[in-house]
Amino acid sequence: MSSEPIEKHPIPDGFANAHITPESYRRLYDESISDPDGFWGREGKRLDWITPYTKVKNTDFTFGDVSIKWFEDGELNVAANCVDRHLATRADQTAIIFEPDDPKAEAQHITYAQLSENVNRLANVLKDLGVKKGDRVVIYLPMIPEAAYAMLACARLGAIHSIVFAGFSPDALASRVIDCGAKLVITADTAPRGGRRTGLKSNADIALAQTGPEVKCLVVRHTGDDVAWNDDRDIDMKALMAKASTDCPPEPMNAEDTLFILYTSGSTGKPKGVVHTTGGYLVFAAITHQYVFDYHDGDVFWCTADVGWVTGHSYIIYGPLANGATTLMFEGVPTWPDAGRFWDVCDKHKVTQFYTAPTAIRALMGKGPEFVDGHDLSSLRLLGSVGEPINPEAWNWYNEHVGKGRCPIVDTWWQTETGGHLITPLPGAIETKAGSATLPFFGVKPEVLEPETAKVVAGNPAEGVLCIADSWPGQMRTVWGDHQRFMETYFQQYPGYYFTGDGCRRDEDGYYWITGRVDDVINVSGHRMGTAEVESALVAHDKVAEAAVVGYPHSLKGQGIYAYVTLMNGIEPTEELRSELEKWVRNEIGPIAKPDLIQWAPGMPKTRSGKIMRRILRKIAENDYGSLGDISTLAEPEVVDDLIANRMNRG
Ligand code: PRX
Repeated sequence: MSSEPIEKHPIPDGFANAHITPESYRRLYDESISDPDGFWGREGKRLDWITPYTKVKNTDFTFGDVSIKWFEDGELNVAANCVDRHLATRADQTAIIFEPDDPKAEAQHITYAQLSENVNRLANVLKDLGVKKGDRVVIYLPMIPEAAYAMLACARLGAIHSIVFAGFSPDALASRVIDCGAKLVITADTAPRGGRRTGLKSNADIALAQTGPEVKCLVVRHTGDDVAWNDDRDIDMKALMAKASTDCPPEPMNAEDTLFILYTSGSTGKPKGVVHTTGGYLVFAAITHQYVFDYHDGDVFWCTADVGWVTGHSYIIYGPLANGATTLMFEGVPTWPDAGRFWDVCDKHKVTQFYTAPTAIRALMGKGPEFVDGHDLSSLRLLGSVGEPINPEAWNWYNEHVGKGRCPIVDTWWQTETGGHLITPLPGAIETKAGSATLPFFGVKPEVLEPETAKVVAGNPAEGVLCIADSWPGQMRTVWGDHQRFMETYFQQYPGYYFTGDGCRRDEDGYYWITGRVDDVINVSGHRMGTAEVESALVAHDKVAEAAVVGYPHSLKGQGIYAYVTLMNGIEPTEELRSELEKWVRNEIGPIAKPDLIQWAPGMPKTRSGKIMRRILRKIAENDYGSLGDISTLAEPEVVDDLIANRMNRG
């Protein structure tokens, strides 16, 4: 562990009147840990309840009996909380600013009144198609306002949405539709991004050919591009919305009814359906959005994530809209038409809080400061980071060139499973250090455990695996259709704790530094990828006998995907085959899963019992083959020499 003192950045002057101050952080944090019922019982009242709750927390982390319930006898509706209840005071306030891909196209300002009208219309369309409470609807849409309408229309009816990122392949879409048993897929004709168009409807056509004829397809005619049409299955969404009534009563939902399923990668098997429920999730999304970003009325909040990821769920849609905020949805990419696009949009819409991922910052940093330096950016009050550890160079660049040294940076650590931020600075309360997620949010009790012994490492500094000792309202409740897998993944290895899968250290000041995943999950440009998923895609190719995938440090993506591939007997390794395999993985999973480096491996380093020694593969991929440790237990130690000699990463 480095012993160099890291400079603390003080709380900026403008944050003296922040929602949370150093004093209230301490007081409320202590209360939230010693009296969670009292703290969350009060915070739950930030929502409108149809039937008020009388119970607050009822949770058990015991392996075999894991059960997580919050506000369990309360009833509410998420869409009513994100839309209806704001109408009395905010009908004409902009709820969503939509900034299209094409910078010359006009931005849309959708007021809360217009949002209400669209959500009600779409809910009625879904109802007419037979969608009821508890039914699953898969959303496969670009970053357009219809994605927000679709999420909220499902919530209004009590239907469960599952968004599939529009960058995923038809196969990935099909497997999710099948796993959650969806009866409807909502998609768009084509999706413009960075001036190019992806055929979403044509992808959905391929996927739906695998799912059976009972799944209907609701299509947003967004670009108007020509698409194939199946009259028995495809329905034009906007045409039906135009005719639908603007009044659809919200369904009363129990706090523990499922709001959405979101698939995410783990270390084994297929992606799992993370289940979030209605009451606790919304309370947690709302409180974190308000306090972590210090959101005040009149602010314009921009989270650059895609709604296909949890960040988009919690901080483009649910948190901001529950708080009556103005939230910006951006259809495009940071580097098109040039690397100044983010800053153009910040200036154009007077964005006050800007929340993005380190990978985007590194990419823009690489294009040179001239794309940002000419911008005003004086509207910005706060910057946020999410998805992976932020390296000090990127942090400093973000601070100097974007924040102009005035804006606190909130480095928010959390996961799809956690629903919202767990470890993060609060801008008016916590001094920051470049690269540290700092201190726990209210109600969150992190512990550092020794990986081998599961013993709590007390005192500071500490290093080990990051676990959470007790539940918080935004926690995932189960894996869709597989509670056993939920318990095994998160509660078995470290009994009594939620295991995050991340390693961390805690410094002398008690600040947390996330060091990355300790399992077979890699983080590519802030996107989570199971190495097992990429391996199974590779071995599905008929020329591949065996594949092993690991992560390696990548200057832009954080981690890159390094694949070792053993070909079938008699197959020649060629450059053509290499690109064929890259394309194959893109098609099987999506562009984000494409291996960055493929090394031909005539043999894999295996133990005598046949287990691949990934530790060795990781070291070689990291170009750190000098410290391979003991390889004498390998069945054929000589394969290691070949792998080192032909390694692909010499950086
Ligand atoms: O390894 C951590 C990393 O991203 C993982 C969660 O990925 P996902 O479920 O896709 O959610 C991403 C957006 C919340 C974590 O286990 N991670 C996320 N945020 C940070 C981070 N690592 C370091 N610092 C962060 N701020």
